[in-house]
Amino acid sequence: MSIIHTNPIGIFDSGIGGLTATHALTKLLPNENIVYFGDTAHAPYGDKSTTAIQEYSTKICDMLLQQNCKLILIACNSASAVAFDLIKAHVGNKVKVLDVIDPVVNYISQKYQATSIGLIGTKTTINSNIYQKKIDALGLDITVHSLATPLLVPVIEETGLTAIELIKDIIKGYLSNPKLADINALILGCTHYPLIKPIINEFYQNKVNIIDASQIVAHAVKQQLTADNLLNPEPRHTMKFYISDYTDAFAATAKLFFQEQLHLELYPLWE
Ligand code: DGL
Repeated sequence: MSIIHTNPIGIFDSGIGGLTATHALTKLLPNENIVYFGDTAHAPYGDKSTTAIQEYSTKICDMLLQQNCKLILIACNSASAVAFDLIKAHVGNKVKVLDVIDPVVNYISQKYQATSIGLIGTKTTINSNIYQKKIDALGLDITVHSLATPLLVPVIEETGLTAIELIKDIIKGYLSNPKLADINALILGCTHYPLIKPIINEFYQNKVNIIDASQIVAHAVKQQLTADNLLNPEPRHTMKFYISDYTDAFAATAKLFFQEQLHLELYPLWE
């Protein structure tokens, strides 16, 4: 397959979380064509085994390659944490693959030093210890205080953000944990969490910097496409959203983000 600049960017997540990065990307790069895959049939990924997440991810990447994507963005921390290396090996030199963790670690390396940073994410992401490992690999004097917050993805996916009071209670319970005391910033280590950023900011009364990967990742994609001379100079002609199972939450959130009723196509990869 020859890659040309009009080919779409392929993006995937377990469900609606990756829409946060996708939305930022479409704003920063308004010409880019997009193919999004939300693996709603298997969400949440955060409590699945590494083997399962790797299997889902490689199948999705094969689908995105069939769609002639010119770059793949793993818009999911859980898959980035346990499947990034495998996906890169699987995709080989066909296209570049970006994750959502390295851009955030690079951002932190430029903005913070000698400090404590909190991290919330799925069990998979937190148990992998991937943020601290990558921070240590850069020789940074930063300690990551992490907490798994597994109830957040199911409540966001299930309610499509209609259960605000419930989410506030869950956030209060999690963020009051002593593990997150005395932090100077908090990494939203799950692409679903920017959807509830206002509630998190309200909890901290804006006194803790919230590190939201959406913009950071969008800039990393732009940088990569620029370096590869693959930015699309022509107006966008396609934004396709595939899901492995229909959920009302996906439809509602996609509409909320993109201000239009998007065409969702069912693509059950596993039948
Ligand atoms: N949004 C994904 C992440 O960043 C997946 C969460 C999940 O499905 O558990 O980890």
